[in-house]
Amino acid sequence: MDVLVTGSSGLIGSEAVLFYDGRGARVWGVDNNMRADFFGPGGDTTWNLQWLKENTSRFEHVAIDIRDRGAVMNLFERQRFDLVVHCAAQPSHDLAAKRPFDDFEVNALGTLNLLEATRQHCPGAVFAHMSTNKVYGDAPNERELVELPTRYDYAKPEDHNGIDETCRIDRCLHSLFGASKTAGDIVAQEYGRYFGMKVGVFRGGCLTGCRHSGVELHGFLSYIVKACVRGMDYTIFGYKGKQVRDQIDSQDVLAAIDAFRTDPKPGEVYNIGGGRENSISILETVERLADLTGKRLQYTYRDESRRGDHICYISDLSKLRSHFPAWRITRSLDVILEEMVKAEQGRVAAG
Ligand SMILES: NC(=O)c1ccc[n+]([C@@H]2O[C@H](COP(=O)([O-])OP(=O)(O)OC[C@H]3O[C@@H](n4cnc5c(N)ncnc54)[C@H](O)[C@@H]3O)[C@@H](O)[C@H]2O)c1
Repeated sequence: MDVLVTGSSGLIGSEAVLFYDGRGARVWGVDNNMRADFFGPGGDTTWNLQWLKENTSRFEHVAIDIRDRGAVMNLFERQRFDLVVHCAAQPSHDLAAKRPFDDFEVNALGTLNLLEATRQHCPGAVFAHMSTNKVYGDAPNERELVELPTRYDYAKPEDHNGIDETCRIDRCLHSLFGASKTAGDIVAQEYGRYFGMKVGVFRGGCLTGCRHSGVELHGFLSYIVKACVRGMDYTIFGYKGKQVRDQIDSQDVLAAIDAFRTDPKPGEVYNIGGGRENSISILETVERLADLTGKRLQYTYRDESRRGDHICYISDLSKLRSHFPAWRITRSLDVILEEMVKAEQGRVAAG
């Protein structure tokens, strides 16, 4: 099997490289390290690329920019793929507001370049597109909530499992990042529905794992672990620190993508996250990290939430589970946190 992974030095992309290389596929990874350009040294993914080169057998890195249509077409002319896992993105709300053209061109135009190259050169390939729960904008905040001592939660029993794919995606506040990702999400669906290609759209909650180059503007769990282990100051923005996110390990994301590869359903959309069991608020994260590290996170509270930020977001995984009954969450929040803490402590020890 020949696999193309975009954003291959990032969190999900590197997991995809490892996953398919480990299963005997030939894997091409496109990444131009734009995360370092977006976020500075903390976002530099060179270490991850180096790690992949040392720990894979058939991985080839291609340092092109997905905005460069000529370069993307050229790659597809040279090589046909059976599977495309599209993870390259500009992932931050705040950065999108500062660099709207870069944001839109990476998230929307870059996605179109890859879809069209696939249609022209390998239309039978499976195409997994990583989207985000931010396509729902702030519509999830309209759900009635209850305030508990350490978190917000849904008030109504029908919302217990969280947000499903029927949540509306328009007439709400997205941020420019949410809007560019929505454009990519819709165009990807269209290549499935209009052209009948095997395109699956995965709307992520909080995706996490040890290979995230976490920075303040993106990679919540990775960054808060880093801040706690290294004794850095952390800022909590609004909602009393009771905002809830569901965390899914990158390995479980890859298992879902692979389930789709073996039984693709053109143009389908899936919410993917850790679900209720792997949900946690910031205040709860602070407590868990104190137990795990013996250190208390130094944080400042700013009584001002990020614009459009979700108050309580839990991904309803019912559709994913019903289409792929063998898929499940294998990595609990405890395991995820323990491993992230150990990895960060290892990095500190290594200097
Ligand atoms: N991490 C999360 O919590 C989360 C949540 C929901 C959705 N997602 C989505 O999942 C996907 C993967 O996220 P991630 O956390 O692995 O992101 P990441 O930032 O870790 O990885 C993205 C990679 O894409 C590369 N890249 C960016 N622009 C590029 C360009 N123009 N050309 C080539 N490479 C480029 C970056 O250098 C980076 O290595 C993204 O689409 C993101 O929007 C992530």
